[in-house]
Amino acid sequence: MKAIRLHAFGGPENLTLEEVDTPIPARGEVLIRNRAAGVNPIDWKTCSGGGASAFIGELPYIPGWECAGTIEALGDGVSEFSVGDEVFGFLRFPEAAGCYAEYVCAPINQIAKRPQALSVEAAGSLGLAGLTAWQALHDKAGIQAGQRVLVLAAAGGVGHLAVQLAKAAGAHVIGTASSANQDFIASLGCDECIDYTSANLSVSLRDIDIIIDGVGGATAIEALPCLKSGGVMVTLPSVTAAEVAQAGEKSGYQVMGIRVEPNGADLAKLAALAETGQLTLSLAQALPLAEAGEAHRLSASGHQRGKLVLTLA
Ligand SMILES: NC(=O)c1ccc[n+]([C@@H]2O[C@H](COP(=O)([O-])OP(=O)(O)OC[C@H]3O[C@@H](n4cnc5c(N)ncnc54)[C@H](OP(=O)(O)O)[C@@H]3O)[C@@H](O)[C@H]2O)c1
Repeated sequence: MKAIRLHAFGGPENLTLEEVDTPIPARGEVLIRNRAAGVNPIDWKTCSGGGASAFIGELPYIPGWECAGTIEALGDGVSEFSVGDEVFGFLRFPEAAGCYAEYVCAPINQIAKRPQALSVEAAGSLGLAGLTAWQALHDKAGIQAGQRVLVLAAAGGVGHLAVQLAKAAGAHVIGTASSANQDFIASLGCDECIDYTSANLSVSLRDIDIIIDGVGGATAIEALPCLKSGGVMVTLPSVTAAEVAQAGEKSGYQVMGIRVEPNGADLAKLAALAETGQLTLSLAQALPLAEAGEAHRLSASGHQRGKLVLTLA
């Protein structure tokens, strides 16, 4: 099969398209003929030697944690899925999953049936970003109907899904984005849209129950005074999580980090919301697998609207 491989940590130029052996599903796994591999910032961070690089084992490494496609074969003991099922997944994180490839083996508790409402490209970009938003809002912050939720980086891969999931949970949602993305975040359902290039959040916003922070660092720290007493910030970028938590502790705000976890049951909840029209996934760009390096360059620019995806024939 064709796969993207990394032989030495470094920039996007280190990603090469190669011919490798097709994997064989172990007990409790399925083999997926992969049609779409979502791209996330953790992908290029890991390939450059940061991110999840401590967990991926020996190089060469096939990047990617998100996939969608058709089940081609079943490992022993699998009765929950059948050959021919259309599925999507978020696999093995933070260990290597190998989704930038034509075939990928998936543990059955880390996949779900693809909702008909989503294209294979959209479903193949949903797993990691969608579960991050879901787990941050529900498992970490315990979102309740009527709460005021602020999403920093509401136009990004995680943020644009967090806005929709918070709306689906009955929250009043405020999103931040640049001027160019104000209409986009309004279309996702934001009740209030803030242009971060001209507004000072800590002056203009108060009484927030939950902040989902997709930016980190100084931006996250400046947003802390928006929280009401008892409110919580879930900060996503792990590289600044300790610094933001420390700033929160010093000034009496509750800050939590997160590491998103694969979870097939949670994927099925996202799929159900997609089927009822409450959740959609916006694609910034779809590129062929061979252009994984270009996808990493685009992701590293930090200004994608929605998700980047690699497509496989
Ligand atoms: N801990 C975890 O388990 C976990 C899981 C997933 C992601 N993450 C991390 O969370 C972060 C966000 O992930 P992502 O996939 O959503 O990233 P992304 O898609 O690359 O985010 C891009 C978005 O960020 C927005 N943005 C950039 N600077 C901003 C600012 N100062 N204020 C508001 N918006 C800003 C951009 O909007 P404009 O173009 O309008 O500026 C763009 O739409 C990344 O650092 C990622 O690694 C962590």
